[in-house]
Amino acid sequence: MPHHGWLLAVAALCLLHNGQASMYKGYKLIRFEANETVAEWLETMSDVAHDYDEKRGEERRILFDVFSEPSKIQSHADVLVAPDFLEAFLLMLRKQGVEKVIVLKKDMQKLIDEEEYTIDNRRRRRKRAGNVVDDFDAETYHEYAVMTRFMHDLALHHPTLVKVVNVSRSTENRQIIGVKISTSSIYKPAIVIDAGVHAREWVAPAVAMYIMKKLVKSAGHDHRLSKALIDFDWFIIPQVNPDGYEYSRNTDRLWRKTRSRFNGSRYCLGTDANRNWGFQWGKAGANRSPCSNIYQGAHPFSEPEIEGLKNFLTFEIPDLTIYLSLHSYGQQEAAHKAVSAIRKTSGANYTYGTIAEVMYPASGTSIDYLQDKGVPYIYGVELRPQDSTDSYGFNIPAKFIKPTGDEMLEGILAISEHALLKKKIRL
Ligand SMILES: *[C@@H]1O[C@H](CO)[C@@H](O)[C@H](O)[C@H]1NC(C)=O
Ligand SMILES: *[C@@H]1O[C@H](CO)[C@@H](O)[C@H](O)[C@H]1NC(C)=O
Ligand SMILES: *[C@@H]1O[C@H](CO)[C@@H](O)[C@H](O)[C@H]1NC(C)=O
Ligand SMILES: *[C@@H]1O[C@H](CO)[C@@H](O)[C@H](O)[C@H]1NC(C)=O
Ligand SMILES: [Zn+2]
Repeated sequence: MPHHGWLLAVAALCLLHNGQASMYKGYKLIRFEANETVAEWLETMSDVAHDYDEKRGEERRILFDVFSEPSKIQSHADVLVAPDFLEAFLLMLRKQGVEKVIVLKKDMQKLIDEEEYTIDNRRRRRKRAGNVVDDFDAETYHEYAVMTRFMHDLALHHPTLVKVVNVSRSTENRQIIGVKISTSSIYKPAIVIDAGVHAREWVAPAVAMYIMKKLVKSAGHDHRLSKALIDFDWFIIPQVNPDGYEYSRNTDRLWRKTRSRFNGSRYCLGTDANRNWGFQWGKAGANRSPCSNIYQGAHPFSEPEIEGLKNFLTFEIPDLTIYLSLHSYGQQEAAHKAVSAIRKTSGANYTYGTIAEVMYPASGTSIDYLQDKGVPYIYGVELRPQDSTDSYGFNIPAKFIKPTGDEMLEGILAISEHALLKKKIRL
């Protein structure tokens, strides 16, 4: 028996190292108090956050990576720093007047390895349920092909409820699809949920898939959800940036951008898809260097993913009433609070702000673009485990998908009921 156990341990170790290389070994996640001045400094620094081999024209490693920015309501920043760059980074921080720094995580690679192990373990233990809806495990992280297969399966097995919609094609030619869920073919106001804009924020697409499955399972059973499917057309586009997502699954777990390549840069790939929208593009909170993690792109809507999503929302959804863009960790905390608030108060006297109103400026976001187009209810939502004071960064354990998804759906229902009420009052 001990021998058998030893073999299993070796197998587990092999599994761990089958996937991504240990590129984040010893990387520290640190937290410090930061105001707007420090936030701007971090943004301008973002294009020198990588270390390059000039001769080979290759990226050698990441020096630091801003995980979570300070905002008007969150006074700290979380930054991942390479072990051998830590001392230099702390010195630079001191020059900005930041003295006190705490270490949240001593070794980021450990978190990444644990995540991979947990996912593999769950997949191996799972038994087949015998029908397409239940066979999809909505409480774990999947590759993009599995997500799209599930959407096609849903449409095939629930043809009156679910339809697959084509949204766009990615730079690497992946088909970006979504589902339309609705109980009648009569044209209705639309709720649109997108996720995956930032590749490494895995919990966001997972929550979108969870909500999709729950809506389909609840149709005709749960009264409140059934009514929401009668009142609204639901569009869920769970993975807007599949290239970045697959890259984060297979090569660099902490990849954030798309995977486009511009001739302006020899070795820096990708654009921040949430800085690429054509409203006040390239103003504050974005960066002009393709090497930056908040690179705005060569021009507005340079990314086929974003151009396609914009066209889909503009031409395929005439009555876009509620739009939610799901993110995770540190980006749009304010909006998360807004969703909780609207849930608690059923929307009484509820006001909501653009990202720029509640955050330090970020330009070229979907939120501000759609607000400018007059979409009435818009939320950029930060998802994260609520019953945990620990920081998982982007490696939020899969066990949080369900509670986060349930909470999110509650919030959306509250918004939709509020929107309906307003509409009736207006009539
Ligand atoms: C921002 O914080 C830094 C470090 O604490 C400090 O030196 C600087 O004066 C602050 N700036 C503003 C505008 O508050
Ligand atoms: C979506 O695109 C695929 C592949 O191009 C095509 O086969 C399919 O018919 C399209 N579906 C819709 C609903 O337009
Ligand atoms: C690529 O280079 C050409 C020629 O210099 C230029 O006209 C074009 O705008 C560049 N494309 C991008 C996306 O930067
Ligand atoms: C809601 O708005 C109305 C009108 O502006 C105001 O009179 C009322 O006090 C507000 N209620 C709350 C709870 O803020
Ligand atoms: Zn994000």
